[in-house]
This record gives sequence, C-alpha cells and structure tokens, in this order.
Amino acid sequence: MKILVTERIADKGIEVLKKSGMTVDVELGIERQRLLDIIKDYDAIVIRSVTKVNEELYKHARNLKVVGRAGNGVDNIDMEGATKRGIIVVNTPESNVVSAAEHSIGLLIASARNIPQANAHIKNRNWDRSKFRGEELLGKTLGIVGLGRIGSLVATRMQSFGMKVIAYDPYITDQRFENFGVEKMETLEDLMKRSDFISVHTPKTEETFGMIGEKEFKIAKKGVRVVNAARGGIINEEALVKAIKDGIVASAGIDVLVDEPNTTSPLLDLDNVVITPHLGADTVEAQDKVGVTIANEVVNALSGNMVPNAVNMPTLQRKELEDIKGYLKLGETLGKIYHQLEKDAIEKVEVNYAGAVAKLGTSTITLAILKGIFEPILKERVNYVNARLIAKNRGIKVIESKQAENGNYNNLIKVNIITKDKTFTVAGTVFNKNDIRVVDVNGFQFDVAPTPYMLVANNVDRPGMIGQIGTLLGVSKINIATMQVSRNVQGEQAMMFLTVDSEVSQETLDLIGNVEGILKINFLKL
Ligand code: NAD
Ligand code: MLT
Repeated sequence: MKILVTERIADKGIEVLKKSGMTVDVELGIERQRLLDIIKDYDAIVIRSVTKVNEELYKHARNLKVVGRAGNGVDNIDMEGATKRGIIVVNTPESNVVSAAEHSIGLLIASARNIPQANAHIKNRNWDRSKFRGEELLGKTLGIVGLGRIGSLVATRMQSFGMKVIAYDPYITDQRFENFGVEKMETLEDLMKRSDFISVHTPKTEETFGMIGEKEFKIAKKGVRVVNAARGGIINEEALVKAIKDGIVASAGIDVLVDEPNTTSPLLDLDNVVITPHLGADTVEAQDKVGVTIANEVVNALSGNMVPNAVNMPTLQRKELEDIKGYLKLGETLGKIYHQLEKDAIEKVEVNYAGAVAKLGTSTITLAILKGIFEPILKERVNYVNARLIAKNRGIKVIESKQAENGNYNNLIKVNIITKDKTFTVAGTVFNKNDIRVVDVNGFQFDVAPTPYMLVANNVDRPGMIGQIGTLLGVSKINIATMQVSRNVQGEQAMMFLTVDSEVSQETLDLIGNVEGILKINFLKL
C-alpha cells in the first residue's frame, strides 16, 4: 500500500505511517498538476485544509481507498464523490478542539485590547497609550454561533471571565444549552441584537456560509466585536469590511479566510482586524495528537478495520467500537457465507438482533453483514462506507429488527437472505466479546468457530459419508482441524462443517462432489 502526504503533519504521525510497513511519500505543497499525475499510484492521501479532494482528483485516483484529513473540517473534500467510490474519509475531530478554542479566545482578547497593534507600535519605538484603549469582558454578552465541541469549550472558558454567554444552534437539544449554562437563542437575529461579542463555531455548510452578512450587521449592537476561527466566509468578508468601516463592528479576530492561502484580503488593510494565517490548530499538543491519530486511522482503514472517526459512515466512540468489535467480525462472517454457498440474486436482507447485541450500535453491524455479503462477488470494491449504497443500487431491501432476549443465547444475530424462490438463514453468536460462533445454517444447528478455510457439505444422512470425505481430503493432503455434523430428521439430510488447514482445490471438491449421497460441497474462505 502507498500513502501520499501532501500537507505537514507531526513527525510522530509520519513515524506511525512508516512503522505500518506501507510506503510513505511526503510531498508538502505539491503542485496540483503533479498531484493529478501521481495520485493513481496511491492507496491513501493525507491532507489538511489546502489540498482539494474533488471530482477532478477522484478521476485520476484509481487506487484511492482512504483520505486522511489531519484536522477537523472536511469542506475541502467532496464527500459524495468519496462515498460513491467507497473511499473512506477519516478525520481527527477531537484532537485540536482545545487549541482551536484557545486560539478563538486569544483572538477575542487580542482584538478587544489591541494587543498586536500595540505590540507593533512599541516595537517601532513609539509610546502613545491613547491609541489603544480596549474593552473589558466582565459583564459583557458573548454570542456563540454553533455550540458544538469548540463552541462549548469557548463558552465555559469565557464564563470564567464573567461574561454572559448566549448561543444560537438550532440543531442541539435544550439540555446541551443547560449543561453549559448558556442561554438559548431561538434565532440568529436574537443573538445579533444582544451580543457585545460574537464568535462563530459552525462547520462551513450551504446554510452557514455567509450566515452573518450585511443584513445581520444592520441589527447588531454598534461596537460589536466578532471572531471567526471556524471557516472563512461564515462571516461574509465584504460585509465585515463594510461593517468595520461603518463603525458597526469595533474589531474582528480572524483566523480563516474564504480563499487560503491569502495575502491580499482587504481585511489585512484594516487596523482593527487582528488576523492569523489559520493557526487555530497549530500547537505542539494538537499537531502531535492530530498527526498520530490520523496516521493510525489511515493505517487501520487501509487494513480494512473499522475506524472510529470515519466521516462518511456511522461514527463510533472508541468505547462503542470496542463493544461491537466481536459483532462486526461475526456480522461480516455471516454475510460472507451466503455467496460462497449460493448464487441466487438477493432481494431482501433481514437482520434480527436478539439479547445483549440489540442494545448496541446495530446499524454498523448491519454494514458489516452487507460488506460480508458483497465481498465474495465484489472483492475490495466493497467496504463499510459503500456497503449500504451497493445494496440500494442493487435493489436490495435491508430490514433490521431487534428483540430483547433470545432463549438459548445471551446474544444472537440472525440473517435471512431472501431471493426470488427461497430464504437462506444463517445465525451466530459471540462469546466473551470476541469468540464468534456460527450456530445455525438453514435450520441446521452447529457451534462452529469459523476459520479461514472451511468446507461445507450437504449430504444424505446415512453411514459412511464422513469417512469418505475424510479419506478424499487425506489423499489430497488436506488436514482436517475440526468437524461438526448436524441433521434435523434421521435418515434425511445432514450438513457438515469442516475446518481445514489449507485451501482445497477444485479437483478435490469435484472428487468429493461425485461421492454418492453428497448433495452439495462448497469451499468457504473467510
Ligand atoms: P462541531 O461539529 O462539534 O460543532 C459545530 C456546531 O455547529 C454543531 O453543534 C452544529 O449543530 C452547529 N451548527 C451547524 N449548522 C448551524 C447553523 N446553521 N446555525 C447554528 N449552528 C449550526 O464542530 P467543532 O469541532 O466545534 O468545529 C467548529 C468549527 O471550527 C468547524 O468549522 C471546524 O472546521 C473549525 N475548526 C477550525 C480550526 C482552526 O484551525 N481554525 C481548528 C479546528 C476546527
Ligand atoms: C481543522 O479543521 O482542523 C483546522 O482548520 C485545522 C487544520 O486545518 O489544520
């Protein structure tokens, strides 16, 4: 596997990538044309906010499987294009939030007290104190737009300065406002009217881009001070310049611009704008955390493992992931059995979760089952990201159900794969978190611990069948590790599961298939 790093991440992160044994090429600030020329050779790309991962790049990126965004915002990545192609996008949403919050606060204070301007003034050997009179925070109202991870960190920190914090975020519960001791604003208008200071902390979306513009500044308090360390353009740049010139906005602290890098913005010409070149996440601590986290995520995603911070699939907390790991393995295994035993086109997949597993993140386990179902026929083109989309595109309905208990097992996952003419059933359970067992195939009961190589036979239930299969495998030098036989009615049909130590050739399968009484023989690779 080959990984291309196009923007700076911490050395510790590069070390993690290299230790994985994958080839790592670092080309910081790569020219766009060169990137388009070489991306076809890479399985993963690690970027920050400058590299644009869009349709143009995807068209050249034949082997791309993972985009690692070392940081939080993913507005430079075309997510739909990635999902369509089964490319996993991972980021590090938690790693730099404290740094970003602290930087927002730094900008707020620096702009309210003219610290950078005064610093430049004295360093030019001047001493005029009258020019830099600032404003206290105590008792003032801070309006936060977007009370997510960073917004809430800013809120709690600024309360310790004696600020009254209000926030506008229509997408979170009232409980969250209460938890942070923040007064909820029903509209952005209300926030604009009441705030002495405003700090924006939303992602850049169609809705938030330009959400504070000319109209909003018209109703803002005269002398309001604004901060944007989220994404360029959430506060419209032209409107901000005008509001500053008109004396509505007293000062602005800005870390992000619509176009970056940028050395020509009109904001740079205004004395009461304190501006930094997208430094919110640039601390030693954040960069170490971001670098190591993204490296581990990229390596894990390339190795086909579930990753906690995948953006275009259900996100899981590390603890949740730990809890469902065994079930993901079981789900994928149950799914993989179908197309190795049957060929019929699937119309519907019904998954029933019973017992302890029903309380967990089952939608992710369903993804694992779908991944398993399609893998034998689509190989590496299916993964956790696109498994549901593949099912949809193939017209397969996926239905989940849950029940609190199952009589026989503490937890049970039962999958019904429904085709035009029949239903294939496979079920399994997990013991001790990780020990997976297949316990039912089409009504035949087992207790099989799946291994990479297995043989599944359907045969007439009569003496001598096991012996004949054993003999033929012996002749072909295939070592049998375990064998289980199950039958429903004596003298009718039986089913055998054999775990073997190596691959079984088609020739051996044909020999077994020709034995009288063998109805079907399949080699399963799990
Ligand atoms: P988050 O997802 O935790 O929180 C974002 C919040 O915005 C959510 O609560 C959401 O409900 C809210 N929101 C979305 N649309 C809204 C709307 N129309 N009106 C009001 N609220 C809305 O994100 P976060 O981790 O706190 O990051 C916030 C921003 O900071 C992002 O834009 C991110 O890219 C940026 N960021 C910048 C830096 C930097 O270096 N300057 C570093 C890290 C993050
Ligand atoms: C982020 O979204 O994490 C920040 O913008 C920081 C960065 O791009 O490095």
